[in-house]
Amino acid sequence: NLRKPFVAGNWKMNGNLALVAEFNQKLADVNASAEVVVCAPSLFLHAFDKDSFSVGTQNVSHLDNGAHTGELSVDMLKEAGCKYAIVGHSERREDQGESSELVALKAKKCVAAGVTPIICVGESLEIREADNVESFVGEQLDALINAMSVEELSKTVIAYEPIWAIGTGKTASPEQAQEVHEFIRGYFFKVDSQLAQGLRIVYGGSVKPDNAKTLFAQNDVDGGLIGGASLKAEDFISICQAAN
Ligand code: G3H
Repeated sequence: NLRKPFVAGNWKMNGNLALVAEFNQKLADVNASAEVVVCAPSLFLHAFDKDSFSVGTQNVSHLDNGAHTGELSVDMLKEAGCKYAIVGHSERREDQGESSELVALKAKKCVAAGVTPIICVGESLEIREADNVESFVGEQLDALINAMSVEELSKTVIAYEPIWAIGTGKTASPEQAQEVHEFIRGYFFKVDSQLAQGLRIVYGGSVKPDNAKTLFAQNDVDGGLIGGASLKAEDFISICQAAN
């Protein structure tokens, strides 16, 4: 497996400058073989040290600039030190009505600017119970494949986040995660085998220090996107170190 493990924290709408300072201090010697990223509220990006870990944003506009009140462009985020951008998180797909097509445009914009998009996909409990996971996730992937070239896709990270596992304490079992990750990799394999082999696919949904290792040990699980547990430096560090 030549894929470098990847762990990103998603602070969501949490944290403050004191937490940034704590992370700067405690993550200074994080000592993980994984690539470590903290996706904090964009206002804080300037305040991170960015020496031993990278920072990312949780959303980005698909447009360059102009009359779009409240939006942030990828160039602005880059100037604040942003190297990664979460796009298409289920909370934004739900709360802001973001479509898969819009998510693909955002991802494309990031790649063009040299920012790595962490593109989230994943099903609700209803879809899982109806046994429609593959067709649902497949459609989310189709939107990316239709909008982006193989080269562009190779500069992304995919996050599989089953909505029923987010913030609920109900982690997908390692087998459930592996099953969908394998499906996703297989889906990209049909587009380009090299792309599929190199693409990092990370799992998100109630990852904690005590379940991270078995999840990350699955063949097609290349790391994680961590919500709640990324707000505590010690927990986040131990999750980062579980990926190798
Ligand atoms: O982006 C992160 C995910 O939504 C996971 O959140 O670890 O709190 O379940 P969680």
